[in-house]
Amino acid sequence: MPSETLTIVDNRTGREYEVPIADGTIRATDLRQISAEDGDGGLMSYDPAYLNTSSCRSEITYIDGDAGILRYRGYPIEQIAEDATFLETAYLLLEGELPTAAQLAAFEDDVRTHTYVHTNFTKFLDGFRYDAHPMGMLLGAIGALSTFYPDAKHIADAESRYLQRVRLIAKMPTIAAFVFRHSRGLPYVFPRNDLDYIGNFVNMTFEIGGRHEPNPVLQRALQILLILHADHEQNCSTSAVRSVGSSHVDPFSAVSAGIAALYGPLHGGANEAVLVMLDEIGDVKNIPAFIESVKAGHGRLMGFGHRVYKSYDPRAKLIKKVADQVFEQTGLNPKLEIALELERIALEDEYFVSRKLYPNVDFYSGLIYQAMGYPTDYFTVLFALGRLPGWIAQWEEMLNDSEQKISRPRQTYVGHDVRDFVPMSKR
Ligand code: CMC
Repeated sequence: MPSETLTIVDNRTGREYEVPIADGTIRATDLRQISAEDGDGGLMSYDPAYLNTSSCRSEITYIDGDAGILRYRGYPIEQIAEDATFLETAYLLLEGELPTAAQLAAFEDDVRTHTYVHTNFTKFLDGFRYDAHPMGMLLGAIGALSTFYPDAKHIADAESRYLQRVRLIAKMPTIAAFVFRHSRGLPYVFPRNDLDYIGNFVNMTFEIGGRHEPNPVLQRALQILLILHADHEQNCSTSAVRSVGSSHVDPFSAVSAGIAALYGPLHGGANEAVLVMLDEIGDVKNIPAFIESVKAGHGRLMGFGHRVYKSYDPRAKLIKKVADQVFEQTGLNPKLEIALELERIALEDEYFVSRKLYPNVDFYSGLIYQAMGYPTDYFTVLFALGRLPGWIAQWEEMLNDSEQKISRPRQTYVGHDVRDFVPMSKR
């Protein structure tokens, strides 16, 4: 039996070290004992963008990027997307187990009790310009929630944490819908607690003059999309929530940091960028020239590639199925033809094949959101709505992990050695 250790020989000194391996990792702090000279602080690992650093031990989401596997708490995403509701998925992520009927009913009831926001909130949103980006409004608004609930800073109190996460899950659709209405200059529609989570959100966004005809196929499709986005282990926004939350700030502020990270075009903003790209391409006949320009380094094929998935993103596979159901209801989106052809060409092209670039979750989700009637700049808000349970579950796990401390990476200083200040007259 090989021992679960790693032997390191420091060729600078000839000294040998043995460090333990657990779960396929060595502890970076075990490298600290390896030093070449007194006072050098010991060896560090250098890992910009965390390409090969495990920042936590987590029981929430499992991904095998090579095999295209995604599981929440051990359950395959395909089964969850097929059978679960969004709140059931949220419960699973947050509590670790699927709820019984009674547990789910109690959770839904708690969420329903907290869907309203303080009426001052509408004044707060009114302060944004008519053309403010929905994600900018969302991140500001969720951050502002912390000022309405100062009790949220009691993060060591499990009961208070439960209340804050219910508040977040309950109020996010209301705020997201208000953001939507603000962008369109429409009056806010308040929550209807006789509707389910998705039905209430859709009603708050689309109701006009007290009327909205729900479409169950589109609502189920939206529910599946939110489930597919619900967690994705240590991605940029989740790491932001954990990192900011590690300072022991309240969860509203930590989640708003996650929303800020998600806003970026390399992360959640990619679904918006895909639609912009499809518009720019404009016609199937322009695809070969577009692909050539990407290969020449002029921009990226948005909605392709992933840090972890080096095969087809399992969420993209499921989303393609949802797209078929949605387009049956809404009629074909002409951009779908461009997207399908882009995918076909890219999956055969040596540039994309050799780099293992496959469609990711964002490649088709934007087309579906557009068919549902959401404007392009709103897509990432829908992503945030979906990702919220994951952010909160990861925040909770981080707080309960006795090994976690305030997040604070080290650096490799490569700047000037000490030098004397030069007075202005001598520069
Ligand atoms: N189009 C063209 N080339 C690409 C793309 C792309 N979409 N993605 C990666 N590459 C190339 C990249 O140029 C590099 O080539 P080379 O080795 O010749 O320099 C190689 O593939 C590896 O790329 P990387 O940037 O080192 O990969 P990464 O793991 O740092 O980036 C990514 C992952 C998702 C940021 C990147 O693939 C990308 O920018 N994709 C487009 C944006 C996108 O769709 N983002 C959504 C991600 S999924 C949803 C989410 O989690 O938010």
